[in-house]
Amino acid sequence: MTEKLVSSWFNVESLPEDYIFPEETRPGKFAVVSHRKTVPVIDLKKVSYQDRSDLVQQIIKASEEFGFFQVINHGVSMDLVDDTMNVMKEFFNLPAEEKASVYSVDPKQCCRLYTSSVNFDREKVHFWRDHLRHPCTPLEECMKSWPQKPTRYREVVREYSVELKKLGLRIMELICEGIGLDPRYCENELSKLVLLSVNHYPPCPDPSLALGLPKHADPNLITVLHQGDVYGLQVFKDGEWISVEPLPNALVINIGYQLKIISNGRLNSAEHRAVTNSIEARTSIALFISPSFDCIVEPAMGLVNESNPPLFRAFVFKEFLSHYTSNYGEAEAILKHFKLQA
Ligand code: OGA
Ligand code: NI
Repeated sequence: MTEKLVSSWFNVESLPEDYIFPEETRPGKFAVVSHRKTVPVIDLKKVSYQDRSDLVQQIIKASEEFGFFQVINHGVSMDLVDDTMNVMKEFFNLPAEEKASVYSVDPKQCCRLYTSSVNFDREKVHFWRDHLRHPCTPLEECMKSWPQKPTRYREVVREYSVELKKLGLRIMELICEGIGLDPRYCENELSKLVLLSVNHYPPCPDPSLALGLPKHADPNLITVLHQGDVYGLQVFKDGEWISVEPLPNALVINIGYQLKIISNGRLNSAEHRAVTNSIEARTSIALFISPSFDCIVEPAMGLVNESNPPLFRAFVFKEFLSHYTSNYGEAEAILKHFKLQA
């Protein structure tokens, strides 16, 4: 089965037809990528008390306008971040026989490696990426399902997941404070699940026709993404694609649908995509912080009243996930299902 992985066969001369996106969605040879705009870069260095409100404001502004920002001086050791990236690259470079032990398309499997998306057999066009994903909570229990090769995988990724979850929660605290909620509003069932999602995009024979990941917004609360040092992540803003520049010591933060809903529509769960290139492989590591499957999500009580009525109904997170998966990439259809009529 591992022969399906793009990393097993990418060295081909031309792009196979089932990887060619329709003209409206493919990047194209002259893709309009704005170089004028860029997502904000926010410095999280230890700030004095009065700087804190300035920091909160910067984060809220970026979350409203872009739904995306990069953070620097985030407190996570760059050695750990680099080490984790190296382990992931080593993983994708393992011989196919080694990767076969985690290869699975069975959604019941905790840790799985597959190619394109979970809908491989039903999707019209395949994505130019391989994908390794596994939960990181509860840590001790789920670590047993993680890859055993490279031998350092479990040790390094364990620390990475703990440190990045802390960073994610710290940012969520600032966000909750900024929208007028108790800073700890999300520190419970709402942020219980941590999922690591690693994308590997080998060099692609024709990046103008293919996509690593098509336009989508993330289903969770917040994502902390390490995109390495290769361009590929683009955010859709005001009808244009904006490249997110890989900065050496930065991590990318983006708002997912759940935080948009909790904030009653104030924060933006921006759509984004990953494009490919023909020269070098790109690996990105996303840490998704999510509600538990049975958690009820709704616009925060403290943010709605008669003049600000709730825009979304309450739902159970697993209902959201199932609707998200069957409408992948269709932001309007996804949100409409949970919207209350005005
Ligand atoms: C994702 C994602 C972007 C990237 O994993 O949801 O948007 O740069 N990844 O790989
Ligand atoms: Ni995403």
